[in-house]
Amino acid sequence: MLFDTIINYCDSEYSNKINCGNNCNNKGFCNSDCLSCLNQIHYKNLSGRTNYGCKNLVNFYTCRHLNQYCSEIEYLLENNSQFYIPEIDKYNILSIGCGPCPDLMAFEFMRQKLKPINYYGIDINKYWEPIHGKIKEYSQKIKNFNVQFEYKDVNALNNFIKQTDINIFVLQYFFSFFYIHGNPKDVSPFMDKLIEYLSISFKKNKSIFIIINDTNTNNLGRDIYPSMLIEEIGKIFKGTYREYYFDHKLKNDRQKVGTKHIDYILRHSPFGITKRYKYCNNIDGCKSYQMIIELTGLK
Ligand SMILES: C[S@@+](CC[C@H](N)C(=O)[O-])C[C@H]1O[C@@H](n2cnc3c(N)ncnc32)[C@H](O)[C@@H]1O
Ligand SMILES: [Zn+2]
Ligand SMILES: [Zn+2]
Repeated sequence: MLFDTIINYCDSEYSNKINCGNNCNNKGFCNSDCLSCLNQIHYKNLSGRTNYGCKNLVNFYTCRHLNQYCSEIEYLLENNSQFYIPEIDKYNILSIGCGPCPDLMAFEFMRQKLKPINYYGIDINKYWEPIHGKIKEYSQKIKNFNVQFEYKDVNALNNFIKQTDINIFVLQYFFSFFYIHGNPKDVSPFMDKLIEYLSISFKKNKSIFIIINDTNTNNLGRDIYPSMLIEEIGKIFKGTYREYYFDHKLKNDRQKVGTKHIDYILRHSPFGITKRYKYCNNIDGCKSYQMIIELTGLK
């Protein structure tokens, strides 16, 4: 499966890494393990890094988070049988800020009868390109599996995609990143653009899904962006939405939004114990907040 191919690739690249030293284009180097580099990005740290700006870091990110993020989407798909019904005859997925594509891997695990997957990943960061290259290489050997990638800032361009037949939009750990590192003035234009694409895609599909999977905390935009999107969408479309959470390491009741998933156990065990400790220390279950929106008609 794609998941194993990518995990093995990133593990091997990271295990043979050459320390970045002064060549690392971010503040701080990758001389020891990249967990500290990653924490600078994932927790607001003004003197730290603001993107996954080196090869070591993207490989480490993938080894650390792929299993967790992919598992989270698998639970969501399992709980939403709409994804298996005949009306959706193919998965045309647009992943915004796709990174190493854990959402794509979840769809591969969950698809039935080899339903076609056409995946368009957009990311501003070209450091993902070698991983995307491996994904492309893999896709060529698998039936009904097509991938395309573009390196663009979704806030800077008028047209962020050429495709007009998307039926699944994914925003996976995008809003939290945006909240920490983005410019608040870009939020409304981004939502407008997204709605425009939803409208274009709606002409070609009977229903459209938007999947949000993100950090379950009120401090990183979860309490702002999903509801803002619902409000904007509600002006134009008819539809429904559901929210989910995982009952794992919750710190307060505000994290219990929507329906509790029946389990939070990670779906895969890619590494032996030593490597699991090296990469995934403290990552022992699914933890995200999720929203799935289904658009069914125009108002
Ligand atoms: C936390 S990562 C999530 C990656 C992936 N979706 C996942 O679940 O692993 C956020 C991603 O959004 C990308 N990103 C941030 N701002 C962006 C923008 N304005 N346009 C395109 N991609 C962006 C980053 O480069 C990064 O890869
Ligand atoms: Zn580095
Ligand atoms: Zn590093």
